[in-house]
Amino acid sequence: MIQANETTFRLDTANSTYLFRKTKYGHLEHIYYGTLLADFDDVDVLAQKRTIQVGSSVLYDESDSVYSLDSICLEWSDNGRGDYRQSPTELKMPDGSFVSDFIYVGYKIVENCVTMKTLPTAYGEAETLIVTLKDTTNELYVDLYYSVFAEANVITRRAVLRNETDVMITIRRMMSMALDLPDENFQMYTLDGGWIKEANIHKHPISYGIVTNSSTTGASSNRHNPAFLLAEANANEEYGNVYAFNLVYSGNHYSAVEKNERDYVRILMGINPHCFDWKLASKEQFETPECVMTYSNRGLNGMSHQFHNFINNNIVRGNWKKKERPILLNNWEAHFFDFNEHKLLQLAKQAKELGVELFVLDDGWFGERNTDKAGLGDYTVNTKKLPQGMKAFASKIKALGLDFGLWFEPEMVNSDSELYRAHPDYAVKLPSKQAVLGRNQFVLDLCQEEVRDYIVKQVGSILDEANISYVKWDMNRHIAEAFSTAIENQGEFYHRYIIGLYEVLERIFCPRPHILLESCSSGGNRFDLGMLCFSPQIWSSDDTDPIERLKIQAGLSYFYPLSTMGAHVSQSPHQQTLRDTPLATRFHVASFGCLGYELDLKYLSPEEKKDITEQIAFYKQYRNVFQYGKFSRMKTYKSNKVMWQCISEDRKTALTGLFQTLATAAESSDKLNVTGLEKGKYAVHTRPQRLYIERFGGLMKHVLPVELNPDGMILHVANRHYSLRDCIESYICSDNALRAGIPLCEQFIGTGYNEKIRMLGDFGSNLYIAEKINEED
Ligand code: DGJ
Repeated sequence: MIQANETTFRLDTANSTYLFRKTKYGHLEHIYYGTLLADFDDVDVLAQKRTIQVGSSVLYDESDSVYSLDSICLEWSDNGRGDYRQSPTELKMPDGSFVSDFIYVGYKIVENCVTMKTLPTAYGEAETLIVTLKDTTNELYVDLYYSVFAEANVITRRAVLRNETDVMITIRRMMSMALDLPDENFQMYTLDGGWIKEANIHKHPISYGIVTNSSTTGASSNRHNPAFLLAEANANEEYGNVYAFNLVYSGNHYSAVEKNERDYVRILMGINPHCFDWKLASKEQFETPECVMTYSNRGLNGMSHQFHNFINNNIVRGNWKKKERPILLNNWEAHFFDFNEHKLLQLAKQAKELGVELFVLDDGWFGERNTDKAGLGDYTVNTKKLPQGMKAFASKIKALGLDFGLWFEPEMVNSDSELYRAHPDYAVKLPSKQAVLGRNQFVLDLCQEEVRDYIVKQVGSILDEANISYVKWDMNRHIAEAFSTAIENQGEFYHRYIIGLYEVLERIFCPRPHILLESCSSGGNRFDLGMLCFSPQIWSSDDTDPIERLKIQAGLSYFYPLSTMGAHVSQSPHQQTLRDTPLATRFHVASFGCLGYELDLKYLSPEEKKDITEQIAFYKQYRNVFQYGKFSRMKTYKSNKVMWQCISEDRKTALTGLFQTLATAAESSDKLNVTGLEKGKYAVHTRPQRLYIERFGGLMKHVLPVELNPDGMILHVANRHYSLRDCIESYICSDNALRAGIPLCEQFIGTGYNEKIRMLGDFGSNLYIAEKINEED
């Protein structure tokens, strides 16, 4: 709910209040962002008291000794009027200076969200407050948009700059929002990494000075995801104040958190000013991406739940919104570029037998794409690999009872391609320098209309020709040498590229709403809310090692729901880490996401095939809970444990994964903790899982009647056809007992073996199902 009058603006969500007011000079003073206030709470009581002049301050008005912009919490601030903190703007004004002073001229409230011409926005039931500010001496306006998503406990903010002067001005920085909060000894959490190590969470204490979180690669990047949070000093997963921020944008982003000497913390978020320079002609406006904010007093999990619901309800759109995602098999790691129709059909047939629903043909099906050095840009089917073309191949996959999905990398071109030979001018490069390449490829210049049209036509025609229900949209290099022949001012390149990308995605996928789009950028190099407006799920990382995924998926889970995370079971030892992990753990980790398989099934033993068949059946049974349930990162008191939980919407089912990273000797017992269940009686049991006997090597002699060579043929053959059941526990108990934690069976510590010992070792895991039982039962 929004309550506003000419001086005070109060934005309430279900559990939070955001409050600001106009000062006597017309600046917007931020008063409060936190737990929902009472109706009678008064703005003067909550406002910072300014009763003494701060030394060495620049006064806004000589007659007012306590009004210095530098020591006021503001909603928007300018350069050159006495506020020395980072400003949300840097505008080259008509007089050539960088001095601006935007003050209040009016407001309006509108039902719903207000869409933008150039960028995607959140949508759904909301109210929007638009406060207009005007520069004191120029006809330049800033409209501040605040959309209140009451149920979601989310407020979004963005700013639009309107040039009503007669001259062109230059924008060197235009943030989406600025917000000043009193410090709570904040810790800033960011998601950082690189290829195959995306989204690892890092904490930075907010001390005096500036901490930034930004990307310059042309995409939201795997280096620093745009999302971040500020948690009060002692906050943990369950308790404490947490403020979180994200940006509906896929390009270069920038956030700064600055603590000044008055202990105010300024938060800025928006497009990265790096290499940014935008000419705003008279009567034009500039739209900034939407910033999404949430506040929770229930710790990090409380914040995550709010963002998860918001993304599922107000960001992801179209036919796949809230819809269960298919279990897919992707052929990339099975074949790379080396496949033909026979190999593909064999793989698809085996996948179908295991219960897979969607077969995805990855890179290598078109042009001369037999290595990563050629073919990108030429989306004509390689008939050596698929002799009868894509339509016929898709029908064969369909005939097996599988849906069919296809990979594209439409934003890129190899120099060894028909497209590049015909249109070298389509590639992003400088006329004057030797090009720098990434993965042997150029970026296509999406600032050019002709290039956008080409992509829309090429991709669209394949999609229409074959029966395609899923697309993987890849993007495998960072942008360099940002330069387009289509624009005069190269400072506009990065942003215009992203506007072009959104246009292309919209033109291809809006007319084909049945297609499930999974975006990808060498894994999670473009995992952001902008892409989620078009693709309901994103390939989280090329790294499918489950132990690495514990970090990657946990990191993402702070800000993104499990329904958005592509997660696959792949071969072991792992392709990038060489780590050998149990199949059960690979499945348990991938099941906390949109499950897929990515390995050559022909090398599976009969026992592994049974195992995967059971995994898929299990996932189908609980798919909705895994993808759309309430996900929490559970506390564990041991550093070698990770515990994740998903609770069903009706709060009657809980799925808990308990993961052991490295085993320690003679380890004490573990506890299963489940929170958030409805009151009542619960049946709890372990998901049955297989133990492959080869894993135990020479130890097998302790449980077998005969001694076998641990390295011999008999054990090897037996391993393919026979496995042991790991310890299955089953209990009846209350939700309260589960909340307190029920002690689990001991794990193996070398003193014996029986069926009540959990065989974890390094990288072992268990998955527990708790389901409510009728009191009469
Ligand atoms: C990078 C992606 O992340 C992989 O999954 C795969 O699609 C390759 N590109 C194909 O080139």
